[in-house]
Amino acid sequence: MRVKVRDRLSRHVLDHHPFDVIGWDGYLYPWIFNIEDFEPITGRLHMPPPIHQTFDAHNFVVCSFVPRLFDYHPEGIPAPYNHSNIQSDEVLYYAEGNFMSRKGIDRSDISLHPFGLPHGPQPGMTEASIGKSETQELAVMVDTFHPLNLTKQATEMEKPEYMSTWLEGDGE
Ligand SMILES: [Fe+2]
Repeated sequence: MRVKVRDRLSRHVLDHHPFDVIGWDGYLYPWIFNIEDFEPITGRLHMPPPIHQTFDAHNFVVCSFVPRLFDYHPEGIPAPYNHSNIQSDEVLYYAEGNFMSRKGIDRSDISLHPFGLPHGPQPGMTEASIGKSETQELAVMVDTFHPLNLTKQATEMEKPEYMSTWLEGDGE
């Protein structure tokens, strides 16, 4: 079998016909990886975001936030710092658990933090994270290297109250 990858051909000799398969589910995923098998690096001090990176593609990366130990330095602060992405829009899908740095997020919510928009733990969440030893959160993040445009359907699902969760004294 000849396989072309970029501009090169490679030759594979198989001991069976390449079409000799039991079935094909019709999907064209280049790769399947169960998020339950992802193990991020943990450390005494806060690890940089790439420890969550699972896939690296031409125009985006996929990161997995999975159950893990928090920073275990005695003075460690598990919550991430506030930041704004310089070159990527950030989409997060919250699948399971409690997302410790965010208020106003429920299971199956999707957030979009466009590049240049400062974001991070809402007021009180940094302090509340101190002393916590682990998280059971499960979320998938896609950072795109080009700006995303919202569809009409996405704008109809927007939770307008989300942006006000960064205001002090919102009762939560
Ligand atoms: Fe972010």
